[in-house]
Amino acid sequence: MNVLIIGSGAREYALGLAFTKDRNCDKIYFAPGNGATTKLGENLAITDYDQLSDFAISNQVELTVVGSEEPLTKGIVDLFRAKNLTIFGPTQAAARLEGSKSFMKNFLARHKIPTARYTETDDPKVAADFIETLNAPIVVKADGLCAGKGVIIAQTREDARAAASDMLSGESFGSAGRRVVIEEFLDGFELSVFAITDGESFVTLPACQDHKRLLTGDLGPNTGGMGAYAPTPLANSLLIKKIEDRVIAPTIAGMKSEGTPFEGVLFCGIMVVRGEPYTLEFNVRFGDPECEELMALLETPATELFFKAASGRLGEVTPRFSAKTAVGVVIASRSYPYNTSKPAPIVVEDGAENENAHIAYAGVTNDGDRLMASGGRVMVCVGLGDSVATARNNAYDLVKKVHFDGMQFREDIAYQALI
Ligand code: AMP
Ligand code: GLY
Repeated sequence: MNVLIIGSGAREYALGLAFTKDRNCDKIYFAPGNGATTKLGENLAITDYDQLSDFAISNQVELTVVGSEEPLTKGIVDLFRAKNLTIFGPTQAAARLEGSKSFMKNFLARHKIPTARYTETDDPKVAADFIETLNAPIVVKADGLCAGKGVIIAQTREDARAAASDMLSGESFGSAGRRVVIEEFLDGFELSVFAITDGESFVTLPACQDHKRLLTGDLGPNTGGMGAYAPTPLANSLLIKKIEDRVIAPTIAGMKSEGTPFEGVLFCGIMVVRGEPYTLEFNVRFGDPECEELMALLETPATELFFKAASGRLGEVTPRFSAKTAVGVVIASRSYPYNTSKPAPIVVEDGAENENAHIAYAGVTNDGDRLMASGGRVMVCVGLGDSVATARNNAYDLVKKVHFDGMQFREDIAYQALI
């Protein structure tokens, strides 16, 4: 089977790695891929989705997997399906679960799915009145996509009112902030829980924890994610069952009943407060860097899992995952997440990668035969082990064997599992 993977990050690299391990996978194309995905398959320079779908037809691509949300919210799945191509991901209508926070919150309310108490509005008076009913801290969110920056946790009511009116005036986030969601602050620990679904049935993947802040100790600005691990011992089977019964199942049933069945991977951002799960957000794709750990643990052939999920036959497959733990440490370039960084040559010591440690590459380019760190998140060092501690040691041993100018990483990935 020929496979096309859409995206250019370590998430897409990790999906590619999973397909290379599958004997049923013949050829992998990446669009656009990165400077290291060329080791796994062929990069395509085609950016137009219509042209990509034509490429898929003429090159016998039997399965396309979409990594990031942007092509999904733009309707790549609808376009491929219209040409009878098999593609893993939600339609444009179903991808709204990620694109709009007010749509998502109202969906949760309609289907009685637990989430923080909230109001959503474009009226500063309504926002201010609701803020009066909450105790600080208070969470103020811009409605639209703001690259992870549209969430303010205000420490006083006054700050919350100011944040809401700055958003509503268009000052802080432009049109993405013209509607806001105001919600109560939930004090607990976060999980990333993924369910693969064909719109009817679903399978839950090992629960992950991400580390969104840039710096060790959960300090600094939010990022796309500086490391993750799975499975986390913070989620026992009782908690997973609650998340399945109260969040995942009603979401899949609700999307179907509203005429926009959700297919692909549903990413539930969960806050656990005193043992009870609340939905913080949905994403309509794999998390990055969570996907890198999940794919390292996946034992079921990737073509079987993703092809069946994408063709309404998920019931025929029970995915198997290794009993090990995977810990992924992101190495980013100097100016991440603020600015681009000057390209720097990467040196990976000989023998650094082994069966318990490997790299998933993201922001890399080629300069002749040198691999260059080209900015942003550059790679994820994934360690595997029989315990969280061993997996983490294997990940950090690999980090020590990677060198490039300006590299930065957190030193405490998976700390919540090791306290
Ligand atoms: P979101 O984009 O909605 O997932 O929010 C980004 C981050 O803000 C989350 O990962 C949480 O760490 C934090 N956050 C969002 N909503 C809340 C809330 N109601 N209570 C506490 N923290 C929150
Ligand atoms: N790691 C969080 C995300 O992909 O949004």
